[in-house]
Amino acid sequence: MPKATILVVDDEALIRWSLTERLRSDGYDVLEAETGHAALEKLPEGVDLVLLDYRLPDTDGVSVLRKIKEFDQDVLVILLTAYASVDTAVEAMKLGAYHFANKPFNLDDVAATVDRALETTRLRREVRQYRTNAARPYSLQRLVGESSAMKALRALIARVAASPASTVLLTGESGTGKDLVAKIVHYASDRASRPFMNITCSALPEQLLESELFGHERGAFTDARLQKKGLLEMADGGTVFLDEIGEMTPGLQAKLLRFLEEKSFKRVGGTHDIRVDVRVVAATNRNLEDEVSKHRFRADLFFRLNVLPIDMPPLRTRPDDIPLLVEYFIDSFNNEFRKRVQGATPAAHAALHGYGWPGNVRELRNVIERAMLLSDGERLEARDFTVTSGVVSASDDFELPATGVDLEKLERSLVIQALKRSGGNQTKAGTFLGLNRDQIRYRIEKFGLTTTPTH
Ligand SMILES: Nc1ncnc2c1ncn2[C@@H]1O[C@H](COP(=O)(O)OP(=O)(O)OP(=O)(O)O)[C@@H](O)[C@H]1O
Ligand SMILES: [Mg+2]
Repeated sequence: MPKATILVVDDEALIRWSLTERLRSDGYDVLEAETGHAALEKLPEGVDLVLLDYRLPDTDGVSVLRKIKEFDQDVLVILLTAYASVDTAVEAMKLGAYHFANKPFNLDDVAATVDRALETTRLRREVRQYRTNAARPYSLQRLVGESSAMKALRALIARVAASPASTVLLTGESGTGKDLVAKIVHYASDRASRPFMNITCSALPEQLLESELFGHERGAFTDARLQKKGLLEMADGGTVFLDEIGEMTPGLQAKLLRFLEEKSFKRVGGTHDIRVDVRVVAATNRNLEDEVSKHRFRADLFFRLNVLPIDMPPLRTRPDDIPLLVEYFIDSFNNEFRKRVQGATPAAHAALHGYGWPGNVRELRNVIERAMLLSDGERLEARDFTVTSGVVSASDDFELPATGVDLEKLERSLVIQALKRSGGNQTKAGTFLGLNRDQIRYRIEKFGLTTTPTH
């Protein structure tokens, strides 16, 4: 660890000398200043702590303290004074002084206070560093793509993150990056140091989802033996991400709407209102307008959520982003798998560029991952991408055989193949066919194909 630097500010040479000698022998770097003005000029040299006399020839300690804190919140200040009134002490503490020491002081005491103070900032800095590191994976730059659609999207996300309006609606096909964007919105907002909580609305039955969201009082229902805080309460000051909002039941839709309008709610079985400050980010791969017209989604909730809409463009509409994403994923899997793949060959790029990507960026990521695991070559080649070879691209160059086809039969066979390839996972099978989960489920039922549901 580098040595901490301490600035000693006092107009009396003898006091400066005794403090400096002592702190140097304790292993610190020490700078000295005689006046408040000189002290402020030393700050850019990198000062961790200031021992500051209250009575200075040119000004008083409290104004110097204020300027130090304006320069850098993290610089610690210990005020030394023989004349402190209670008022001055209180003001100094309010301004962020770490300690107030009386003159004449005992050198051992001052040295011990300095040690303690520096230990706390070291920890505070470490935690802050840790938090920014944890937040960094979700910076705007994580959203790869130089197409005009992606550039516009990043600009929109930055504006949305900075906006105080609290609700955001993310729409777009599966695998387009809605989860990722929800986190980016959180970490780019001034809520970044508060919790980010998420829940998938389709994953829980109504009653459980309600108590996960709003919490419950003791005895609210049979299993409620203890009082429990919900996600909205735990995320106070932060963000709650409601994934697959289109699957929420009408009863809960009404309760969510009430919360969005009033910013308060009651726990299940509770009687008093709880106020929280939470940004709700909701996501869906359904077309909510359609759902509204079919009376499956409340119109008023849709309008309330749709204040700041972000629509994620499918990958096939921005094929120019594909090469960049390919190289980006090769690079990240190189790190993860400790490999040194030098990119993809032009033929491989061409094959990947021509494919329709029904599963969007997630599918691309999976394809690169698999190719990286299987290939030993220096570069990824076209034949490393089994998925794309022989796959009909999303463009309409599928040629009808001269003999014609039985469309129903063909569809059934494709659904079966997709289910086989995905190991029975319906959502994944859907991505091979450009279908969302409902659409693939509908076909599974239509063709009487039973699969053991995976989650
Ligand atoms: N533009 C992008 N740049 C880099 N990575 C991306 C991008 N878009 C998506 N990804 C990555 O692709 C994967 C799928 O994205 P994500 O889970 O956010 O999709 P989604 O829209 O939430 O899908 P679903 O509707 O199925 O939940 C993730 O690993 C994500 O990090
Ligand atoms: Mg998602």
